[in-house]
Amino acid sequence: MAQVIEVKVPDIGDFKNIEVIEILVKPGDQIKVDDPIISLESDKATMEIPSSAAGTVKEIKLKTGDKVSEGSLILLLEASATVAAPAAAAPVAEKPAPAKSDKPAAVSAPAPVAAAVAPVIKEIEIKVPDIGGFKSVEVIDVLVKVGDVVKLESPLLSLESDKATMDIPSPYAGTIKKVLVKTGDKISEGKPIAIIDALIGGTPAPAPQTPAAAPAAPAKTETKPAPRVEPATGGSARIHESSDYRSSGLAHASPAIRKFARELGVPLDRVRGSGRKGRITREDVTAFTRAVMSGEQASGTSSKIVSLFESPVVDFAKFGPVETLALTRLNKLGSQHLHRSWVTIPHVTQFDEADITEMEAYRVSNKAEAEKQGTKLTPLTFLIKAVVYALKKHPRFNSSLAPNGEELFMKKYFNIGIAVNTDQGLVVPVVKDADKKNLYELAKELAALAQKARDKKLPPSDMQGGCFTISSLGHISGTAFTPIVNAPEVAILGVSKSSMKPVYINGKFEPRLMLPLSLSYDHRVIDGVAGAEFTKTLAEILSNIKELAS
Ligand code: COA
Repeated sequence: MAQVIEVKVPDIGDFKNIEVIEILVKPGDQIKVDDPIISLESDKATMEIPSSAAGTVKEIKLKTGDKVSEGSLILLLEASATVAAPAAAAPVAEKPAPAKSDKPAAVSAPAPVAAAVAPVIKEIEIKVPDIGGFKSVEVIDVLVKVGDVVKLESPLLSLESDKATMDIPSPYAGTIKKVLVKTGDKISEGKPIAIIDALIGGTPAPAPQTPAAAPAAPAKTETKPAPRVEPATGGSARIHESSDYRSSGLAHASPAIRKFARELGVPLDRVRGSGRKGRITREDVTAFTRAVMSGEQASGTSSKIVSLFESPVVDFAKFGPVETLALTRLNKLGSQHLHRSWVTIPHVTQFDEADITEMEAYRVSNKAEAEKQGTKLTPLTFLIKAVVYALKKHPRFNSSLAPNGEELFMKKYFNIGIAVNTDQGLVVPVVKDADKKNLYELAKELAALAQKARDKKLPPSDMQGGCFTISSLGHISGTAFTPIVNAPEVAILGVSKSSMKPVYINGKFEPRLMLPLSLSYDHRVIDGVAGAEFTKTLAEILSNIKELAS
């Protein structure tokens, strides 16, 4: 029979009749000792009251606006017989904290003291947590397999709705025993994802309803980890790593809400607070997440601007027969991403030509060697090398602009994205650490990524972390084009078809193989001189095969 514990306001110094400004838990929540349960605010300080016991919240005994003092009843907690109710932790204050005392927990039920717990392994079924009410969301990547040892919060799955992608993190550290979903499955809240042999007690794993002395037999436990949500960006799901999701630190929110927002990947500086004095509440954070997931919350400015220019609805059937073609998910994601980049980035495109006569001779003469190594040296392989060289010489091209427009994040790694057209739409797989690979290694990786893209087998991890993108139409036709920057990168190189041209060298025209280059860049970050210098560097290195092949 479950034991019911009354959790009361502990000693909060000399403070009396303090207003409850937020209730951080709800009936049914499983909480641990020290989890914050309410926020109080006096005119001097804001403080969070941590739970003095672990268990399931049965009933909340107060509401926001109530005034409380030491001993006021906060909630009833249902604990299993073995759950300990140790001494109350001190409240966490954001501003100068009230004086603490050494008084014991304000818990009325008998409080057996928790013994030191040796780490135990428990078999636990991990389920899909609350994902903002979304149903039947597609699993686009299963990131673990049986036998994998995962850390707390390691991503287990990637899900993708029409509007957003999200990772489901592991609520436990441990070893994956069984994987219960596969790529392509449609899942909703509560669906079992995996069975884990979770390490409980000796590691920082959360322990909902974890008894002080764990049973020897495996126990099934439901979990509610928080998903991480990010707006879909057409294959460039880098938002976690980029500054988009960095909070300015100015938002008015309690430590618990900050932690909650961090777990969800929500930037607090973009959340409007509905609480007292604009304070951000838990509901505000979940509402923001829901809005991102449903596409209502696009990238700020662009969505507003775009809505000003909504296309008129035209009945084309009035003029002749029409067939309606549904766009693929990739088409839709790609078009949103490109549109956002086009609207938010002031583009300039710089054109140049590179003399690749020697490069092409080298490529042809090394065909046999490439075949021996099981690959094919394509022009793109050399272009990746050349781009890395130019990025090292012009580091501003290897940066991203902070959303507030006040800082540049200068990257010290060289990951090159390659635009690949597939029958589902455009994707941009990324060749990681291109500076550490030779021509043959680059060629092999490029071919493998392009093949995976066409087979629809590219996991999100292969499309993340790009620094600079190359889009080549050289195998088709054209003399130049104006590619759209793949935000949050700041530049992209378009490559058109090479052709023999007469070039005036040392007093006479010579036939040379010339490669057209079109460099689009973000003019907020790169000025015209830098743009011209970058393509000049590219043209020089592309015509210097010794350096290129080294
Ligand atoms: N000028 C003239 N010819 C070119 C060229 C250029 N800039 N780029 C490629 N070619 C030629 C190649 O030399 C090759 O001819 P070959 O077989 O006689 O050597 C032919 O076009 C096909 O090239 P490809 O194998 O596609 O090489 P690549 O380096 O352009 O691309 C991959 C390599 C792996 C990315 C490729 O498989 C691929 O997917 N290409 C398509 C990329 C794409 O979708 N671009 C659209 C972007 S929106």
